[in-house]
Amino acid sequence: MPIAADVELGPRVRFHQPDLVNVYGCSIGADTTIGPFVEIQRGVRIGERCKISSHSFICEGVTLEDEVFVGHGVIFVNDKEPRAAVDGRLANSGDWRLLPTLVRRQARLGSGAVVMGGITIGIGAMVGAGAVVTRDVENGGVVAGAPARLLRMTS
Ligand SMILES: CC(C)(COP(=O)(O)OP(=O)(O)OC[C@H]1O[C@@H](n2cnc3c(N)ncnc32)[C@H](O)[C@@H]1OP(=O)(O)O)[C@@H](O)C(=O)NCCC(=O)NCCS
Repeated sequence: MPIAADVELGPRVRFHQPDLVNVYGCSIGADTTIGPFVEIQRGVRIGERCKISSHSFICEGVTLEDEVFVGHGVIFVNDKEPRAAVDGRLANSGDWRLLPTLVRRQARLGSGAVVMGGITIGIGAMVGAGAVVTRDVENGGVVAGAPARLLRMTS
């Protein structure tokens, strides 16, 4: 089911191609738009007037406040040391530690950015295309590169 029945949708949320997303167990605020080939996992909270571009992966533990822009192919990470199997059996939900991530209001994430878990991206901050964000980004900070470093403050 592309948009599961347990998704809480605010008014006027728009999916450009609802049959081409995988969205479950999350909440999405009013007027937010979501492109095709996006996965949004259980427990994710997305605010109002956000834009989520195609091919992005928003995993459990992520919160996006209002008016956040997510570019194409942005990947969030919530498990720093993933394992397929433990002691000869498939790993399950008890075998890993979820690292929550908060993206504050009006932040912008460039296409292809990877956001490691346990991070806060500050109000109005800008993450460059292709960045690997490994540390918190201060309010209004513009960061780029792998690992992402501060280029300047927003003007
Ligand atoms: C990060 C960004 C905001 C910086 O823009 P800017 O402040 O105008 O920076 P400049 O283009 O003047 O570049 C400044 C320096 O940062 C480098 N740089 C710029 N963007 C970079 C990026 N994404 N990754 C790595 N380095 C980057 C430049 O090479 C330059 O380095 P130099 O001084 O050694 O020559 C912008 O380049 C960017 O990546 N925006 C995201 C766009 C996007 O993904 N949009 C999504 C929808 S299409």
